[in-house]
Amino acid sequence: MNIRQVPLWTDAEVTTEAIAFQQIQGYALVRHGKPVVCLGILTYAQVDSAAVHLLLAEYGRAATSAWDLYQSYVAHQRDPASPAVGVVQAVGLTASALQHFPGGQLLSDTAFNNGFLAAGPDMSAIVVLAGDADQAGGAGAALIRLRNDLTAKFNTLATIQWEEGKPGARPLGFEDGISQPIFFEIEKPPGALHYSYNPAATLGLVLLPQPGATDEYGSFMAYVKFRFDQQAYRLSVNAVVNASGRSADEVESWFLGRVRQTSEPLSRRGSSLNDFDYLGPSDALCPAGAHIRTMNPRAENSRSNRILRRGAVYSNGAETGLLFQCFQSNLTQGFETLFRNWASGLAIGPDAILALRASAAHPAAVVGNLPPTSPVAAVAGGAYFYFPSIPFFARALNQ
Ligand code: HEM
Repeated sequence: MNIRQVPLWTDAEVTTEAIAFQQIQGYALVRHGKPVVCLGILTYAQVDSAAVHLLLAEYGRAATSAWDLYQSYVAHQRDPASPAVGVVQAVGLTASALQHFPGGQLLSDTAFNNGFLAAGPDMSAIVVLAGDADQAGGAGAALIRLRNDLTAKFNTLATIQWEEGKPGARPLGFEDGISQPIFFEIEKPPGALHYSYNPAATLGLVLLPQPGATDEYGSFMAYVKFRFDQQAYRLSVNAVVNASGRSADEVESWFLGRVRQTSEPLSRRGSSLNDFDYLGPSDALCPAGAHIRTMNPRAENSRSNRILRRGAVYSNGAETGLLFQCFQSNLTQGFETLFRNWASGLAIGPDAILALRASAAHPAAVVGNLPPTSPVAAVAGGAYFYFPSIPFFARALNQ
């Protein structure tokens, strides 16, 4: 069966396809719920070296499967006291690293090889470790052990740069991770689904067939480190507050498209926080440039442009930002369309968070000459990675 075409998987259907789910890296598919994530970006002097084999043997083959993550997610939904999977691991490779392995050369995706964030030879792989926090608020013991182990082994073989972030933290004070494509019955919000825009999706949105293999799947990740310019944000918000006479809370809600305290969408047409649209009178309630509206206009013709997000807020002294990660089966339709076209205003309006705006985001109901706003987030680095099926790693080692 082509598992990419089934919408809203029931537990029974997942069990029937247990083998396929055991071979998919779970981080690309299932909510992990871990409070800390470490991203290790590796750079090899020589890609087909011993270091890559070490990475694939020890970390790729031990990647957490979608099956394990799904089972622990279901158990946790039914009983929050049930033990969760320990450290969640995942490994992705850039196009330049992938071409050295069987099947890797077959991945002829234009954006992955030559697109906006296509990595040069200076980036080879990413290791994701997501885990629990200890009481002091740092990464948990198992996570630290694994991270130290990885750093020690790679010290002489490749350079490794670590980023640590908190997936549950609130970027710019807003709750994140609410609007996600829904793949499994168990993720459905209580009550009726759907109002008019259906948040459910098939796995084809994030999975693509693993080249050279049967019934195996991988996924593309776009990774961007964004540094927040808190000063630009405050100046933009204050300028709009002064010009409109509205409160800072209201103006910040316009920039994002949700009420900060409750996370409710500004649109009133919907049945839950992830089940609404912008049709009819609700069109005037949410600015065209509100972040969640530019990034997902919730129209049927943009269903294939959705992405699965895995954001984590980082802080480094006074500097804060977002380790933005998203999965999709097609980088051109996913990240590249959203970030290169829609964020700059090619669809409805320039994004209040991601773009430089000639005028501020405000709902149609607010009249007046509102001032321009500055970009709130600056790109500090990024790359595209392919997260192959788990058996790919074993094959690569036996080549
Ligand atoms: C500084 C960078 C960013 C910040 C602070 C940020 C913050 C947020 C927040 C707080 C939400 C609302 C939570 C939710 O609806 O789940 C959200 C939603 C979203 N963001 Fe971002 N984000 C950033 C960058 C990006 C980028 C680069 C993209 C895509 C290229 C993106 C795509 C989306 C999408 C698709 C949604 C969900 C919209 C929906 O389905 O209604 N974001 N973001």
